[in-house]
Amino acid sequence: MMQIAVIGAGYVGLTTAACLAEIGHEVSCAESNVQKLELLKRGALPFFEPHLEELVQRNRQAGRLSFTSTPEAIARSHAIFICVGTPPLENGEADLTAIEGVARTIAQQATGYRLVIEKSTVPVQTGRQLQRHLRLYRRAEFTYDVASNPEFLREGSAVEDFFHPDRIVIGVESPNAANAMREIYEPILEQQFACPVHASCEDRSVPPLVITDINSAELVKHASNSFLAMKISFINLIADLCEAAGADITKVAEGIGLDRRIGASFLRPGIGFGGFCFPKDLQAFVRIGERLGLDFSLLREVEKINLRRVDQFVEKVRRELWVLRGKKIGIWGLAFKPDTDDIRFAPSLAIIQRLLAEGADVSAYDPQAMTKAKEELPEIRYCQNPYEAVEGAEALLLLTEWEEFGHADLERVRRLMDRPLLVDGRNMLAREKVIAHGFQYIGIGQSAEVGAVALA
Ligand code: UGA
Repeated sequence: MMQIAVIGAGYVGLTTAACLAEIGHEVSCAESNVQKLELLKRGALPFFEPHLEELVQRNRQAGRLSFTSTPEAIARSHAIFICVGTPPLENGEADLTAIEGVARTIAQQATGYRLVIEKSTVPVQTGRQLQRHLRLYRRAEFTYDVASNPEFLREGSAVEDFFHPDRIVIGVESPNAANAMREIYEPILEQQFACPVHASCEDRSVPPLVITDINSAELVKHASNSFLAMKISFINLIADLCEAAGADITKVAEGIGLDRRIGASFLRPGIGFGGFCFPKDLQAFVRIGERLGLDFSLLREVEKINLRRVDQFVEKVRRELWVLRGKKIGIWGLAFKPDTDDIRFAPSLAIIQRLLAEGADVSAYDPQAMTKAKEELPEIRYCQNPYEAVEGAEALLLLTEWEEFGHADLERVRRLMDRPLLVDGRNMLAREKVIAHGFQYIGIGQSAEVGAVALA
């Protein structure tokens, strides 16, 4: 068991804090936003993430997890995870103000030894700056090591990803730091935990541990997210080609993905990637690459393809409805992906803004993201359920693939709509099934004249 401070109670920080407590550590989680801190102290969560609430509650009750101020968390800890935000600056670079602030507080307040771990997504060489900063501002009696431990938690399955990671990457430059990091993750590396996600979890596979220098660990994170973003833009480009040439992206993606060197995941075409990770990390990666003198136009293209998705999708709707002014449009899904209430950089919001700019009358439903969406987009109508969102509509746009939409009563939906047009931005629903219910169906990368022949 180790005394750990987690600075920042955002998606990464809060999940990390609760999961580290769950595997036995004593965790003080600090949050500088006073309202958020009060909320956490009362036992409430500032966002929705499956399984997280029960983990937070259980570990608070067990006395392993507490919420406090940054100086107090630093004072109590042996290891400090920095999990503060690194939002994009105007020019796309990562804004490291919060990291710098935490480094300075640690240097000025800590006494004795601390292992300072950067978990926030940062550009390569940030660890070096961190080391320099700690040295410049430190008190005489403060000693430290710096480590990088990038996170690979997906929103919506973050708790599961913590307990069953594909790998754990640690960037360390001293044996002390390496040993402490191994100790922190020992229960995961030795598979000594009760899985909080699956009651009878049988996954006992030991995740590989990648130990490297700090620069390389930082690069693993940015390179991983950029590669995944590249896969998505690639498949989106091929989806466009399928539409133009007359082919079916679902089959093309299946055919590509079965090659083990390529892999089937992240080949789902759609309205583009969003969220607070891929768009900003890709930009930051391009900026740091260019700053270090490299031509990163490959990744600039990935970004361009993604930005075009929104316009292309609106164009699909416009092609069918002709004029959007005054048209009632129902929206299913606002979150940037299912199982989260996060709407940051969600393509759905950009699409709705375009529709509003053209005078459309928009009603929307999302199982989790409506409270957050209302703050960004107060001008649309928010509905209690998927059916209310389609009443009198001339088009239904499916923008986030929530499981709930897969079970919707399509007969009822058709009856409620003025015109049964379904534009599926995620290829979530089976085209034949939707058409069989009397809809006109438009997906992504699916040409209407293509139909596979079933083998006898
Ligand atoms: C991503 C990474 O997957 C995590 O490993 C990483 O830790 C995290 O960023 C981060 O940097 O913190 P996340 O943003 O939660 O996680 O979501 P993803 O599941 O990766 O999806 C990102 C976006 O890509 C979503 O908008 C999703 O709809 C889109 N996507 C994903 C596609 O359009 N097609 C796909 O095939 C897969």
